[in-house]
Amino acid sequence: MLPLTDTFQRKFYYLRLSITDVCNFRCTYCLPDGYQHNKDREAFLSVDEIARVAQAFGQLGTTKIRLTGGEPSMRRDFSDIIAAIHQQPEIKQIAMTTNGYRLAKEAAHWRAAGLSAVNVSLDSLDARQFHQITGQNKFTEVMAGIDASLEAGFPVVKINVVLMKHLTQQLPEFLAWIKHRPLQLRFIELMETGEGNDYFLQHHLSGEHLRRQLLEEGWQLVARLPDAGPAQIFSHPDYQGQIGLIMPYDKDFCDSCNRLRVSAIGQLHLCLFGEQGIDLRDLLHSDSQQQLLQARIQSSLTQKKQTHFLHQGMTGMARNLSYIGG
Ligand code: GTP
Ligand code: 5AD
Ligand code: SF4
Repeated sequence: MLPLTDTFQRKFYYLRLSITDVCNFRCTYCLPDGYQHNKDREAFLSVDEIARVAQAFGQLGTTKIRLTGGEPSMRRDFSDIIAAIHQQPEIKQIAMTTNGYRLAKEAAHWRAAGLSAVNVSLDSLDARQFHQITGQNKFTEVMAGIDASLEAGFPVVKINVVLMKHLTQQLPEFLAWIKHRPLQLRFIELMETGEGNDYFLQHHLSGEHLRRQLLEEGWQLVARLPDAGPAQIFSHPDYQGQIGLIMPYDKDFCDSCNRLRVSAIGQLHLCLFGEQGIDLRDLLHSDSQQQLLQARIQSSLTQKKQTHFLHQGMTGMARNLSYIGG
């Protein structure tokens, strides 16, 4: 029975849990006009509801929860959320994906509360360009946050760089940056979202060219561990850091899918690019509903499709990635 398994025999030990849609950045490929407050939007999951989600997934074999958003640290109770998940004995890893703006101040506190890994978005090593992409003049703070994460002792700090046509000339700078830093620098192919079709057409770049370039320059593909994420990882004897490539348009990308998603309002999404979520919220009111909750999660898995909608030229429900937690 355990862990959760779908009809294609993929196993799901990893939950991406969005805790807010709100973000204070305006990344050009995600929220170019900034986060739009919607007074009709349902309230985000409370700490107690989050604890119940973690308990249910933990008992169904989940060992890792990644907190996403929006920007997860926009929540004032972020440390309480980490601590509540940390109480669940089955959850061995609590990770977050962040824009990094609060990391310099908080990395050590969050680590103490139980956070075990951070992924930080950093699309440019040029402060002006960073400002242009994110709409925020916070390059120095984010760089300090990355250093603070390494100092706080997170075993792996991953950096997300979205591959965009006009940015490829920065590869040498990025490589120099990880020469003596144990960072895992991941280049992510831009994905087409419901609100970002034009941007996608203008800026999408396949990672294949970069893959060939890395191999030519002596980078070697690291064998994939069974529980690894979506990135193909490369290492090089002269570099302390590693490089990852996330290529969702690769035809085999979904074969190794090992994750499920719950949105900030408690909807289970079987795929980043998929259908309407399955509501779990009516089963998050009390601990006495755990059995029903777990049964609903388990039975939903039969609906998980073999591949995401991007392969069919559609974006499904993903209006932007802050809405669904990336
Ligand atoms: P770890 O393996 O836990 O480090 O997670 P990750 O690399 O998936 O996490 P992160 O939140 O940093 O995501 C990096 C990029 O991968 C983001 O652009 C995500 O939207 C994308 N991504 C993560 N999971 C999936 C997935 O299942 N499908 C697709 N298409 N993209 C994904
Ligand atoms: N395509 C690819 N990556 C995206 N992200 C956000 N929107 C997109 C998109 N359309 C990335 C961010 C962040 C991660 C959570 O998702 O850069 O690193
Ligand atoms: Fe915010 Fe992340 Fe979207 Fe940028 S990519 S606007 S940091 S949610």
